[in-house]
Amino acid sequence: MNTDYIQIASYASKAPSGHNTQPWKFHIAASTITIIPNLEVALPVVDSDNRELFISLGCAVENLLISASHFGYTAHIIECSRQGITAELTKTEAMIEDALFSQIEKRQTNRSIFNRKKISDEVLKQLQTIRKENSVQFYFAEMGTPFANIITECIMKGNETQMNDTLFKKELLSWMRFNRKQVEATLDGLCYQVFGNPPLPTILARPIVNQFLKPKVQSKSDKKKIETSSHFVVCTTQKNTIEEWVNLGRTLQRFLLNITEMGISYAFLNQPCEVTKLVLTLQEELPINREYPTLIIRIGYANPVPYSPRKKIESLLV
Ligand SMILES: Cc1cc2nc3c(=O)[nH]c(=O)nc-3n(C[C@H](O)[C@H](O)[C@H](O)COP(=O)(O)O)c2cc1C
Repeated sequence: MNTDYIQIASYASKAPSGHNTQPWKFHIAASTITIIPNLEVALPVVDSDNRELFISLGCAVENLLISASHFGYTAHIIECSRQGITAELTKTEAMIEDALFSQIEKRQTNRSIFNRKKISDEVLKQLQTIRKENSVQFYFAEMGTPFANIITECIMKGNETQMNDTLFKKELLSWMRFNRKQVEATLDGLCYQVFGNPPLPTILARPIVNQFLKPKVQSKSDKKKIETSSHFVVCTTQKNTIEEWVNLGRTLQRFLLNITEMGISYAFLNQPCEVTKLVLTLQEELPINREYPTLIIRIGYANPVPYSPRKKIESLLV
């Protein structure tokens, strides 16, 4: 098997994914790499239509295309469907490496409290010009503006719904990793260090963490995180189709690698995009041209946090 392709697939697997499920497998052929959805790790409660799963695959696709350039290949997508996304690679003399390659291993989701520093208008203008795939749009809302206040209110309402939903909490808890032994055994999921938490013995962890999974506790914590961030970014699509979700993932990954390079941190606050009635509120009340609000991110400046684990590439090849 082409060892370059294995390394390229390994960089693809460093993409972000909902609950760090890493919902991908890789099929390597003579001149193609296919990223196949792994529905065994789908999230039927929070992501019932696999939208976030296909966005995560889109992030992995973008990493694949960027890292192909590092190994001297041009790469382009030849197929995108529910069954998977295939990229064709061609060895090219004097291939120029994509400048974002060096950011793939530096990017991280940062759920900490940020330092209140504002992103300047000049930097914001640069962020607005980052290339977007078809049907994808990013809207920026400065904290404290009416646009941002509506988003904050919807996040609080999202917490109210999700933190009162037993199935949502059960699914979330099943992806939490409370100590090093659990992290090393699974190499996936939401790990205690990433949240700045101490390790907990497995037997005590669930009842303790359950105490924090309450609407008021969650909203108080999110409010602080929002107040110390600079802007929200609302990511939208036009029709809510698989191809658009992959396109959104690709655009998102390029955006995240660009902001990593600029020293800007980010975290997701997707709650309102995951609750149907709040999606309708966002569509009606935000200046987003009635597009589908698909992801919400907060951006700003913060100290780095520990990195999330990744599965070994050998376990992801089919
Ligand atoms: C489509 C998508 C949705 C996500 N939703 C959330 C979310 O609602 N809340 C959250 O804290 N993180 C969210 N994340 C971040 C993942 O949990 C994170 O990517 C994963 O734990 C791996 O960590 P890393 O991004 O630092 O590599 C999301 C990521 C993706 C790609």
